[in-house]
Amino acid sequence: MKLDPYPSVIPYGRQWIDDADIAAVVATLRSDFVAQGPKVDAFEAALCELTGARHAIAVSSGTAALHLSCLGLGVGPKDCGLVPAITFAATANCLRYVGAEVSFCDVDPRSGLVSPTSVSQHLESKPAAKVLMPVSYSGSVPDLASLSELATKAGAFVVEDAAHSIGASYGDGSRSASCAHSDAAILSFHPVKHVCAGEGGAVLTNDETLARRVRRLRTHGIERGELWAYDQVELGYHYRMTDLQAALGLSQLSCLGEFIARRRTLVERYLSAFKEAPFRSRIEVATTDPQSSHHLFVIHFADEAERRAAYAFFHRHNVRVQVHYMPVYQHSYYENVAAECPGAEAFYATCLSLPLYPLLRDEEQAFVIRCLKAFLES
Ligand SMILES: Cc1ncc(COP(=O)(O)O)c(C=O)c1O
Repeated sequence: MKLDPYPSVIPYGRQWIDDADIAAVVATLRSDFVAQGPKVDAFEAALCELTGARHAIAVSSGTAALHLSCLGLGVGPKDCGLVPAITFAATANCLRYVGAEVSFCDVDPRSGLVSPTSVSQHLESKPAAKVLMPVSYSGSVPDLASLSELATKAGAFVVEDAAHSIGASYGDGSRSASCAHSDAAILSFHPVKHVCAGEGGAVLTNDETLARRVRRLRTHGIERGELWAYDQVELGYHYRMTDLQAALGLSQLSCLGEFIARRRTLVERYLSAFKEAPFRSRIEVATTDPQSSHHLFVIHFADEAERRAAYAFFHRHNVRVQVHYMPVYQHSYYENVAAECPGAEAFYATCLSLPLYPLLRDEEQAFVIRCLKAFLES
């Protein structure tokens, strides 16, 4: 089948900013507060309501949220953190920021989710892990209840990396980032995520002491005193979110239900198309979790060569598919970290993320499906 490239570029993910979002930011620009102020407070309250977690601390990025979670939990030099091999590098980097070692655990070769078996093996090995960082990859939450049980037995903290999974649920209906089975969770508000704040992140927790410490670390390690007085009691950072970002985040959050519903419709359309020939026998869908919030739509090809060829074919036709992710330990920076993760390597060899975002138009998605068909029949 001869196929011309799509007339414009179709990205794999992008934000959806409407007039209400723009008006919210403009109103904040005209207000007394443009740096951290009342909009950040309101955004934090909305995040608590959405997730069910008792405390939310908005920060400048998901990466800052990961860093502050580790610092707040007292993870430091000589400690070790367990990170799934398939994730964005930030999940591992935050451990290095605090001087801790990173150990990589394996994931399911199809879903990309961390497997309790791999975690259990690691938690029994040396050095004992101080923190486990399960990643709710693609919008699907791993078995956090079992993981948290394993971590508790081993005396390790749990930090859910929920950068992909705002609005998702798992198991008996627990909400992602609720901290029902973790000490803390983090969110990201980067434009390819569900909720865009330009950049931004948040730490969620039910632990008041941890929340207070993370708040302090967000602002240089400073405690406020009476009148003009303040005291820097530890070394903190400048990781604050601005009211401009929070105004955008808050406005976006009010559309989260609509965003996820649209993503779900698109996912169902992919799933129904892929039940037919030639897709049925040639590709496998990675995530079919009905409780997912569908950040990514990932498929698997038969092998690495076919995935590579498919990537090139899509790009030639203006469809910017992506690969999420190369196992983190394969980055040069982590070359000295020994890791044995056959599941992660199998996942990476064959995975490809197709375009998925609320603004993806029906005809654009139809083109993506046509493009894949043309590739499989070429
Ligand atoms: C799984 C995961 N964790 C953490 C982050 C870091 O978030 P941010 O880009 O907001 O720093 C990302 C960003 O892509 C991510 O995908």
